[in-house]
Amino acid sequence: MKSIASAPGKIILFGEHFVVYGIKAILCSIDKRITVTSQFLDEKIIRVSSSLGESEMEINSLNNLEKVPQKFMKPFFYIAKKAVEENSTAKGIEIILESEIPAGVGLGSSSAACVAATASVNGLFNKLSKDEVVKRAIQTERTIFEQSSGADSSVSTFGGLVSYDLKNGFKNILSRNDLSFIISNSAQIHNTQDVVRQVRNFKEKNEDMFRKFCEQEIDIVNNATVALKENDLNELGSLMLKNQELLKQIGISTEKIDLLVKEAKRTSYGAKITGAGGGGCIISLVDDSNRENTLDNLGKISDCFLAKIDYNGLVYA
Ligand code: PMV
Repeated sequence: MKSIASAPGKIILFGEHFVVYGIKAILCSIDKRITVTSQFLDEKIIRVSSSLGESEMEINSLNNLEKVPQKFMKPFFYIAKKAVEENSTAKGIEIILESEIPAGVGLGSSSAACVAATASVNGLFNKLSKDEVVKRAIQTERTIFEQSSGADSSVSTFGGLVSYDLKNGFKNILSRNDLSFIISNSAQIHNTQDVVRQVRNFKEKNEDMFRKFCEQEIDIVNNATVALKENDLNELGSLMLKNQELLKQIGISTEKIDLLVKEAKRTSYGAKITGAGGGGCIISLVDDSNRENTLDNLGKISDCFLAKIDYNGLVYA
């Protein structure tokens, strides 16, 4: 018996970094997924395999998850350990991950993997509800990213366009926009926590300026909410460029990203960093009229691909 589940990655349309200081952000899941297939094994082992590597642990040694050979594998052994304990099974489990989402560039691949693996492994015993999956996926992600807000896991589980702020949490954005983005990868690996720390230093040295940037970001997000309702691509694109300008001012752009945004501007409605910056990816808003040109342009200087908003979230196969 196989238990298969898949979950999408995400992009941040507006508000990264400022969200840390209480401002609303807008994010959505994208139609690029991680699929996890789980099955029982006769041997008493947990085996995890993905394109990034393969790892095995005896069920008896799951008590010490610090012994997991590769840190990024820890969440999957954690999920398996809980499932084995809760269901008192005598069998082992194989967990296979297949991903369409590039890792480590702010597209939510680790959250999507935690969501899909939680659903897939537990699905060998009982299919969990989305509410139960998201709760467990956030706990799981915190085994490697202690500070995780849970934002990525939530959008991956439920899908669609959402707003998020520290005080009110998540709210679904009701308009079902059929937006298309070209995601281009700067190939500069970033570490979100380091970039967040760097922005905090910037804020502490430039309190007045940062306050003004926050006010501008609030306007951008409010205007974007209206533009989404009206499906106004010109306005959304120009707000993305304004948002990019602020991200540049707080110091998280790079030469490569500036170049990608400059190229993207020539053909798309607008472009900006998505996520922590300091590398990672940019998103460019396109439609049928400028999609191919933008892909061609950006394809000359980066790995890029088309993504649309995903409205399904977690799916059991
Ligand atoms: O690198 P990502 O896509 O996980 O984005 C981080 C978003 C920040 O606003 C920079 C940090 C946060 O915790 O919200």
